[in-house]
This record gives sequence, C-alpha cells and structure tokens, in this order.
Amino acid sequence: MGKIAPSILSADFSKLGEQVEAISRAGADYVHVDVMDGHFVPNISFGSAVMKSLNRLETAPYDVHLMIENPDAYIADFVTEKTEFIVVHQEACRHLHRTVQNIKSHGIKAGVALNPATPVSTLECILDDIDLVLVMSVNPGFGGQKFIPGALEKIKELDRLRKEKDYNYVIEIDGGISLDNIKTVSDAGCDIFVAGSAVFKAENLEKRICEFKEAVPE
Ligand code: DX5
Ligand code: ZN
Repeated sequence: MGKIAPSILSADFSKLGEQVEAISRAGADYVHVDVMDGHFVPNISFGSAVMKSLNRLETAPYDVHLMIENPDAYIADFVTEKTEFIVVHQEACRHLHRTVQNIKSHGIKAGVALNPATPVSTLECILDDIDLVLVMSVNPGFGGQKFIPGALEKIKELDRLRKEKDYNYVIEIDGGISLDNIKTVSDAGCDIFVAGSAVFKAENLEKRICEFKEAVPE
C-alpha cells in the first residue's frame, strides 16, 4: 500500500487552506505537518494553531512530524479528531518509551523518526510498541534538499524486521522524494511517502498528486 503525504512546509502559506483542500480532494492520504522549533533543527516553521486552523476544512488526516526538543510538553496540543499519527524524533527523546505511551494515551498512533545518522538498531526495544517508523532521507530542517541514498538500506532493514518478528509498524520516508525516486523507495518496502517541494512547486497540485499516486502500488 503506497500512501502520499504532502508536506505543507512547502505550501504557499498565504493560500494554505485552499492548497490543503486541493491536495486532499486529489487523493493525498495524509497532510504532513512539519513542526520545527529552531532548537532541534535550525529552522522554525509553525505550531499547532496553524494546523488547527485547517480543522474546519475538508482535508486528509494529519501526520504530525515534531522536529522539536521536549516533545512531551506539546503532544496534547496536536491532538485533534483529524490527527492520525504523531511522530517524535528518537534523538529528541530521553525517555522514548514514555513519550510513545503519552501519544497513545490520547488515542493517536505513535511514530518515531530517525535522522540520517541514527541507525535502526536504536529502536530495537520499541519497535513492537510503535505504529510508524519515519526514515529521514535528508537532515531535517528544510524542504527541497537532496535524497540521501543510505535511507534505502534502513527501509529494507525495517521491512525485513517487521516480517521476521511480526511487527505492525508502517514505514514512512521523508526528504527529497520525487517522481524519479519514489518507485525505488517503494520497492525497498516503504508504505508512506512524504513529498514537499515535489508537490507544492508543481503548477497543478491535483495533477501532481495523481502522478504520485500512480507511481506507487495501491
Ligand atoms: C524536512 C521535513 C520534510 C520536508 C520535505 O525537515 O521533515 O517533511 O518538508 O520536503 P522535500 O520533499 O522538499 O524534501
Ligand atoms: Zn517531515
């Protein structure tokens, strides 16, 4: 199952509602919400108020990617009826198991993200408890960066592990995804594809979503 999660980091914020409705209408599976605090990553994006301003619109469910220090303090702010996943970074959590339980206590699916330099083995003790693993294929902080190929090995390893041990997580990739490389990542075993600039820099958003949907298996 290939799912597309356009990252609104690359949207035109002056037309955010309009654009999120357009991609959702065209079949985007999730709205990827990139939250950056200027500490965990060297950039500041937006907070929960911006995400919640989309609540009254017809949109796909939210996939919230928290690139922030101390995520526990903010998890509750991102809980809405439309929030499907909240994803925290392994590198930002001193007590990752507690943070995962915190997310789940709100009835939300819990995900953990790995920076390019963080190996899959750091999640060994938590893979059975989580719903999603997000493999970063760029260093987080900015849209429009180049795909780091080492991410493919991590996707393969995560796919192998879940088959071997019967784990239930889905695998998501984030960073530098385009129509040129999505098939290779899909073949490696990935389920959810985040794409920011490759979607929002297109002239016709709906058409671009259809192209992405066609590039991955149903
Ligand atoms: C990077 C963000 C990504 C980013 C992806 O820190 O987590 O979601 O917006 O943008 P592209 O697809 O342009 O690499
Ligand atoms: Zn992201």
